[in-house]
Amino acid sequence: MSASTVPRNGHPSSMHPAPGASGSQQDAAGDALGSRLRGSGVDTSHNVILYLEEICVSFDGFKALNKLSLSIDVGELRCIIGPNGAGKTTMMDVITGKTRPDSGTAFFGQTFDLTRMSEPQIAATGIGRKFQKPTVFEQHSVFENLELAMRGPRSPLATLFSRRDRATGDRIATTLERVRLSEQADRLAGLLSHGQKQWLEIAMLLVQEQRLLLLDEPVAGMTDDETERTAELFLSLAGEHSLVVVEHDMAFIAALGGKVTVLHEGSVLAEGALLDVQSDERVIEVYLGR
Ligand SMILES: Nc1ncnc2c1ncn2[C@@H]1O[C@H](COP(=O)(O)OP(=O)(O)OP(=O)(O)O)[C@@H](O)[C@H]1O
Ligand SMILES: [Mg+2]
Repeated sequence: MSASTVPRNGHPSSMHPAPGASGSQQDAAGDALGSRLRGSGVDTSHNVILYLEEICVSFDGFKALNKLSLSIDVGELRCIIGPNGAGKTTMMDVITGKTRPDSGTAFFGQTFDLTRMSEPQIAATGIGRKFQKPTVFEQHSVFENLELAMRGPRSPLATLFSRRDRATGDRIATTLERVRLSEQADRLAGLLSHGQKQWLEIAMLLVQEQRLLLLDEPVAGMTDDETERTAELFLSLAGEHSLVVVEHDMAFIAALGGKVTVLHEGSVLAEGALLDVQSDERVIEVYLGR
């Protein structure tokens, strides 16, 4: 698949936002250890999980996002493509509260105004993010990484010395199976392959039961086989979760088969089926090349 990958230059990643800022937010968002997805309190009566309208973000006068409008349906698997610097990661920064837009509207469901919420509040309400570079706890086992992800803001030591309950263990085991890491449960995360670290980070979002998953270049650096498995995993997650996937790997995007949004200079250039956007002259001009 690497032959179809458009070159990119990565940006430094930062740590996960700590989920669960306070008890009341956590309650409002649903018990993190319960069986409901986080975000089950989100009003999606119009079948829209994420709504961005005319979002603008400037860095020293440079418009990273320029009236970006986008709408994601409940259970949708949306792919976002576009050249380096198009604003894809900045869009995720706005959705997760890391960057405040200068203007525009961003809603999670009908009622949660993301521009007025903190990063931990947004994570506790049901939006999980995977950064471009894997950020796992290398000195802890795969299993412990998932325990830490489930327990949220508690200190790592308190989490590791607390009693392990059966429901937690079961949920972790099921998730490990889903991302094909069962046999690695007791290995130190630092010893995993790059692809396995990516899966572990996705598993961390799954044990948190995040309703909307933002995945920034999840198959970058993966082997073809790992990339195919990741496509299968994402297809199995769609419906139950909503996914927004940023990628440069066109074979991977084709395997996912969903609607594609092309970003360019901070706004939407084209949107539709991959074959349609691939034959769009403007998209060929700015991204895919002639
Ligand atoms: N914190 C920041 N300060 C200044 N400029 C920034 C900052 N974050 C992003 N930018 C700029 O905003 C533009 C959009 O960057 P962004 O990282 O969103 O692009 P991208 O579409 O994710 O690109 P890539 O495919 O390379 O990951 C770039 O020109 C980038 O240099
Ligand atoms: Mg990026």
